[in-house]
Amino acid sequence: MAASSILLVDADDAARDQIREVLTKVGYSVTTVDTEEEAFEKATDHNLVVLDVLKGGQSPADICRKIRATPALVAIPVLCISQSDEVDERIRFLEAGADDVIAQPFDARELEARVEALLLRFQRSRDLAPVLAADTSPPKRRKMVTIFSPKGGVGATTIAVNTAAAVAENPGGSVLLIDLDLQFGQVAWHLNLQPAQTVVDVSRDVSAQREPELLRTYTAHHDSGISVLAAPGSPQLAESVTGQDVERILATAVKAYDSVVVDAGSVLDARALAALEGADTVIFPVYPEMSALKALRSLLDYLNESGTISSKATFVLNNVFASDMLKMPAIEDVLGTKIVSVLPYDPFLYMKAVNVGVPIVRGAPRSIAAQHLVRLAASAFAPENGVAIHTIQPKHEERKPGRLGSLLRPGRNGRKPAN
Ligand SMILES: Nc1ncnc2c1ncn2[C@@H]1O[C@H](COP(=O)(O)OP(=O)(O)OP(=O)(O)O)[C@@H](O)[C@H]1O
Ligand SMILES: [Mg+2]
Repeated sequence: MAASSILLVDADDAARDQIREVLTKVGYSVTTVDTEEEAFEKATDHNLVVLDVLKGGQSPADICRKIRATPALVAIPVLCISQSDEVDERIRFLEAGADDVIAQPFDARELEARVEALLLRFQRSRDLAPVLAADTSPPKRRKMVTIFSPKGGVGATTIAVNTAAAVAENPGGSVLLIDLDLQFGQVAWHLNLQPAQTVVDVSRDVSAQREPELLRTYTAHHDSGISVLAAPGSPQLAESVTGQDVERILATAVKAYDSVVVDAGSVLDARALAALEGADTVIFPVYPEMSALKALRSLLDYLNESGTISSKATFVLNNVFASDMLKMPAIEDVLGTKIVSVLPYDPFLYMKAVNVGVPIVRGAPRSIAAQHLVRLAASAFAPENGVAIHTIQPKHEERKPGRLGSLLRPGRNGRKPAN
């Protein structure tokens, strides 16, 4: 830890000397700069950025926001120094994406403790990692992101809808959101849409499963620019969709759209497995409750055996409770993996978004929740953002066909089970 290097962005001579002295005394290597240009030039070579005042009176919150919007810097924690203890100023930094804020005047021990805590949080993957190693595959554009949870009610649809809406904000690319929570899918409600056709209709049209042009005709259009392939209105209809249908639909979807987001719900059947298998990134919402964590851990072990989520799993702690009874280290220990994305609790925002049918990233874009959701979307589609994507190593060196293999790969008779 003491060898970590810190980039201190500070144009105030006295503050700079004070902070540098505190941090070098405990063994950190500190580089100081005082302009935005230098900060961006040097940030990637450091483990942490400490952001104080800038030359020319530029707003540190704006620089923080720019750092957070830069894919190559998403993995670097940012500690902002606020010039007063006012709540508004601290919130401004947090809204800009700061990982922590410390107010002037501060005690040297508090600065040390906050820096150490941030570095620990971001380095924890290397320390923990019984099942985890860094993704070393060369960067390629990720096209399909699947969200799945073995437990319902954990925010999977919220994440799926906001991921699609955040990606749709970027000009130029087409985005398809598929609701594969086939029994009780709620994507259409989250977007206030009444789709005329659903996944079931595509499952009856083999040509549409193979032809990008035809597949597009089954989607509903949302104002945000997202195309939506909705779940059927009744659980009874869901049964007719097979794992093979889903496999074909997804293979065609990535040809028809630049980005595909799949809400795979919380039932692990052949349809969900096809969505996990086909994805470039799998987002697992993490529900901070012990039985849910254990269920997720056993799912990960199950999927590991087949190598299904190797190189593509990312975990998002969704703080659905007002108080955090389980602390991050305990959660990471149960899962055996690192969590780098967190969604903050909010008593109204998420509920309102569902009730009015407007995703948070559109309805409350300046909220902290929206900022976190935008970052999550960016890192899910861009492997160069690195930290959010992990390889979960199979338990055994040799990859076995595993249970997933037997479910999804053709058997001796060349057929797969329907569901
Ligand atoms: N961080 C949060 N803070 C407060 N409420 C939240 C948070 N995340 C999600 N919620 C609320 O929790 C509920 C469940 O969210 P959501 O529908 O996205 O979960 P899900 O996993 O898709 O559920 P289901 O299994 O029913 O499909 C919603 O009412 C949502 O508004
Ligand atoms: Mg849902």
